[in-house]
Amino acid sequence: MSDDTHVDASFGLTNDPIFMADPYPSYALWRQTGPVLRTTTPDGSPVWLVTRYAEVRAALSDPRLSLDRTHSRGGYRGFRLPPVLDANLLNMDGPDHARIRRLVSGAFTARRVEGLKPYIQLATDQLLDAVASRGRADLMTALAVPLPLMVIGKLLGVSVEDGDMFRRWTTMLIAPDPGRPAQAREAVERMSRFLTRLIADKRVKPADDLVSAMIAARDKEGRLSEKEMTSLAFLILWAGYEATVHLIGNGAFALLCQPEYLDALSGDPGLVGPVVEEVLRFLTPTPYAIRRFPVEDIEIAGVTISAGDTVLLSLACAGRDETAFVNPDDFILRNPGNQHLAFGFGVHYCLGASLARAEAQIAISTLVRRFPGLAASVPIEELSWQRSFRSHGLLQLPVTLSGGRPS
Ligand code: HEM
Repeated sequence: MSDDTHVDASFGLTNDPIFMADPYPSYALWRQTGPVLRTTTPDGSPVWLVTRYAEVRAALSDPRLSLDRTHSRGGYRGFRLPPVLDANLLNMDGPDHARIRRLVSGAFTARRVEGLKPYIQLATDQLLDAVASRGRADLMTALAVPLPLMVIGKLLGVSVEDGDMFRRWTTMLIAPDPGRPAQAREAVERMSRFLTRLIADKRVKPADDLVSAMIAARDKEGRLSEKEMTSLAFLILWAGYEATVHLIGNGAFALLCQPEYLDALSGDPGLVGPVVEEVLRFLTPTPYAIRRFPVEDIEIAGVTISAGDTVLLSLACAGRDETAFVNPDDFILRNPGNQHLAFGFGVHYCLGASLARAEAQIAISTLVRRFPGLAASVPIEELSWQRSFRSHGLLQLPVTLSGGRPS
């Protein structure tokens, strides 16, 4: 390792509020320093950080970089799940990954996402109806947080009666109370029992939902095992929830920063597709891909990385790379060359990308259509951002909802 690949932890991966609010100047410095840097995560794990678009894209689909934690030898700590939830797509490679991915893709079809759109619209309208008459709201609690949870509950086939419980545990899991360190573990256990029971119930009484379709899914190698089913249901919840919350929140934020964008979108509702893509590039909600472990010594951009070390690919830093995008630090409403990496690339490409896009497009277009006078009710620079380097999103987004129109 040469000195110019070394980055002090204080320079890089931190949960510092100033960095969280605007990590982009640091990203520019990272890219400038080199395509592969050495640093540590806030929990002290030593990692190699890949910063530039070309290297991140190539690494995302490099089969020598394994997602399976058993290949880790470099002191990676990270978050651990109990075995019943850990047999999931983001912790496996090769034939096992391909078999499960094929079975899930057969159940998680474009038709299923299409079929969910009326529900997404209905849920968005209900959530906005609840705050419309107040004339002001926190868009995170009113819309961005509850909508993805309602949609995932519907996708998995959680009953209306179990909905409140499901939402409580998910919230405990994703945003545990810092004063109660055991809460996340407790929530994982409860959620695991809940999902095991949900799967058992769907076996007896299948319905038109993803869990029932995954139970029915079978190919020549057989069905999904019980552990794979539970892990998959959990992964869909885990992988699909927080990123979608922040895609909706960051989308609303981007429009509030430039009121002329709100006007442009009001005048041309078809713009919502490109706008959501630009939010994914410009304010990537999931800044890093899942950590990877080389199965052999590899070289990236001339830097040798030993087998078993931890490699982090910065999707957000790649999204601002000047060698891949024209004027990358501008938010461009119609950005034709926008090949962002926010949903990954290659065999692990996000299975929920079209669902996430549908949710964000419906949420943002409905917001703009119903409240053409939407405005932030505090100065943009005073907003607080989530303090986790794994996620880029707002804690609150207070707005005034003037110009309210019915749904
Ligand atoms: C804005 C929203 C979302 C973003 C930014 C996002 C991002 C990603 C990324 C970057 C990956 C690849 C990880 C890697 O290669 O290291 C991924 C994988 C995955 N995502 Fe998403 N995701 C989002 C929403 C969703 C939703 C709504 C679902 C499901 C309901 C979902 C389910 C999955 C699954 C199952 C995988 C694993 C695929 C595999 O390993 O084959 N995601 N996502």
